[in-house]
Amino acid sequence: MTDGRSKQKILEIDGLHVSYGVIQAVKQLSLDIYSGEIVALIGTNGSGKTTTLRSISGLVGDTRGRILFAGRDITKLEPHRIVKLGISQVPEGRGVFPDLTVLDNLRLGAYVRRDRAEISADIHKMYQLFPRLEERKKQLAGTLSGGEQQMLAIARALMARPRLLLLDEPSMGLAPLMVKEIYAAIRQINQDGVSVLLVEQNARMALAAAHRGYVMETGSIVVQGTAEELRSNDVVKSVYLGIN
Ligand SMILES: Nc1ncnc2c1ncn2[C@@H]1O[C@H](COP(=O)(O)OP(=O)(O)OP(=O)(O)O)[C@@H](O)[C@H]1O
Ligand SMILES: [Mg+2]
Repeated sequence: MTDGRSKQKILEIDGLHVSYGVIQAVKQLSLDIYSGEIVALIGTNGSGKTTTLRSISGLVGDTRGRILFAGRDITKLEPHRIVKLGISQVPEGRGVFPDLTVLDNLRLGAYVRRDRAEISADIHKMYQLFPRLEERKKQLAGTLSGGEQQMLAIARALMARPRLLLLDEPSMGLAPLMVKEIYAAIRQINQDGVSVLLVEQNARMALAAAHRGYVMETGSIVVQGTAEELRSNDVVKSVYLGIN
């Protein structure tokens, strides 16, 4: 591989099952991410994408199977330990703290860290990545536009210095120009050395950015391949890209 990707697996999910009571949300799911990759996970409403991300972050209780991060079993770890090891998640709907300023949201993203000087330096880096956030650093997060909140949510997740970033539908509800800006940032973050798992219903954007991808239906992976293979797959074309 010629870009930042390597043959080392940073994430390995093996036979994951997740249920909410009687509902089996994820069934026998296996998925790998190699260090340096952007991997897209696409699927229609309710197919289990968010549940998969939340399982990686240790946020759902009833799971079976194994999740390895850089070779280490994280399946039973508490969420804050998983963040500290190097996995951050940007939740569906962004989840910024609306009554706190942009700056305080960023500071909270560094809650697992104690290196104050470096935290300040990283806040500055976030302002370089998203200049709009610096202009609005004293503004309450709840008063930001949807796209700005998405930027803040991504920046807040990066403040934990992840090696793997999990993004849950970053383009949802955003105007095309804003989607472009968010995706440019995702590519930049990846080029700076962060592996990315990108959950999207917007398959066109996701597959344009990703190296590889997986398609989920009712809790299971039904198609996988390189982004190019997925773009020419008949199911992906008709269901996700609107091409007959
Ligand atoms: N907390 C919960 N309690 C009970 N069932 C849940 C819960 N969260 C999700 N589910 C169910 O699990 C299944 C998968 O949901 P999930 O949110 O993972 O799908 P998704 O692919 O992220 O969907 P969307 O594209 O709408 O965000 C759905 O049938 C959903 O109703
Ligand atoms: Mg979801």
